[in-house]
Order: sequence, then structure tokens, then C-alpha cells
Amino acid sequence: MNLKSVFLWAHRGFSAQAPENTLAAFSLAEAAGADGIELDVHLSREKVPMVIHDETVDRTTDGRGVVADLTVRQLQSLDAGSWFSGQFAAEAIPTLEEVFQWAGDRLRLNLEIKSAAAGKAVLDLLDVYAQVDVLVSSFDHDLLSELHRCSPALPLAFLCDSHFWRRPLKRAIACEARAFHPSVRLVSRPLINAARHAGLAVHAWTVDDPGTARNLLRRGCSGLFTNNPGKLQEIARIGENFLDPSAHARIF
Ligand code: G3P
Ligand code: MG
Repeated sequence: MNLKSVFLWAHRGFSAQAPENTLAAFSLAEAAGADGIELDVHLSREKVPMVIHDETVDRTTDGRGVVADLTVRQLQSLDAGSWFSGQFAAEAIPTLEEVFQWAGDRLRLNLEIKSAAAGKAVLDLLDVYAQVDVLVSSFDHDLLSELHRCSPALPLAFLCDSHFWRRPLKRAIACEARAFHPSVRLVSRPLINAARHAGLAVHAWTVDDPGTARNLLRRGCSGLFTNNPGKLQEIARIGENFLDPSAHARIF
């Protein structure tokens, strides 16, 4: 991609138009021109990485139960689309492997690891799918440190939802992370300057409002997570006018 562009992540896919974390949401995100797709990973009972946000299937499927207690077969028999709209009744919870097969090397995937136990399974899968372009993130910074120890070249991003961002940033730097992913409410000049000084890109989550997006890009964010990549394309293009290419740091 063009180094001058703002990087637009489709948060859980094009989740404003399709059920989150489904292949339908990912296909729509690609069609809308997103640069990458953010998705969430939990493990099934057999320890297969599954793409779903919550610890349970209750909110986003027609079933009930804890993801880690259910087999892949049980998880994939659930309807993961009707809660959003009847038109998506055929959608299932994808395995991470299915998403890798779908994505190939066409667009970057941000794998947000939700359960610490999933780290090892994700590394094993990445050994098989070496062509997939990934950025691995988590709020669990101990897990990211462990992944860095096991796989020093794995591109990492540290998620941060706390006003005490200096310590997480320090850990991200120690792990040679590519990016820092703060909540939009945390983005400030000091945070951006500190991250960029250390060579990390700053990508903020989650923003659907064009005015907020513009402000974040002006402050120096080089990437955004949005549920609506279609709506933010225009802002991302405007952002190119004032984005300092060095803001991308080591991520590309
Ligand atoms: O990765 C950014 C964002 O997805 C983190 O929060 O709860 O939407 O997974 P959440
Ligand atoms: Mg997420």
C-alpha cells in the first residue's frame, strides 16, 4: 500500500452492515476498500482458534454457552447471522483457518487474541499459513511478551484501554511491537509523540464518526478501526493530505 495512506481497519469486518466476525462482514469490508480486517479469537473445546468476540455465543448466535466448552462442530452449527438480520441466516462462526484461506495474501488481518490459551494455537496455525499478512494484538500484554519470546519476528500490536498508557507502551517497545492500539478516548499528543518516537504506529479504535476520525488523524494517528469502512474512506483520503509518512513507523 501507499505509505502516505491512512490505514483503515474494518473492526470485526464491515460490522455496521453485516454480522460481526463473519465471512459476510469480511467480504463486505474488502469490497468497501478496507486495508485490513480486525477480528477476535477464542478457542473451541478442542483448542481450535475460532473467530468470535465474546466468551459466550449468546449475543451473536442463536445458541447459548461458553465458546471454550463447545466443539467446532457445535459452534459451526449455530446461526451467527440472524441476530443481525434474517438476510445473514446462513452465516456461521468461522474458524481462524477458514479466514486465512479466504484472505490469502490479499489484505492484512489483525488477530486480536481474546483468550491467553489461544496464543500457542494461533502460532501453530501461522506456521502453516505463512503467506497470511497478520498483525497480532491483545489486551493481555503478558501473552504478547510470551509470543514475542516464542516468535520474535511476529508483528505485534499492544492494545490499551487505560489512561496509564506509559507502562503498556514501554512493554510494547520492549517487545519490538509494530503498533500501539489505544482506545479513541486515550489519544493525545503526548501518547502519539511517545509512540512515534519509539517507532510505533498509532491506530485508534473504534471510530465511525467522520469528525472524530478527522481529529484523530490530525493528532497524528496513522490508522483507525471502524465498523463502517465505507463511510470513513473519504476521511482517510483527506487524511492523506496531512499524514506524515513517518507516522507509519515500522508497521509497513
Ligand atoms: O482491536 C480493537 C478493538 O477490537 C478492541 O476492543 O472489544 O472491540 O475487541 P474489542
Ligand atoms: Mg477486537
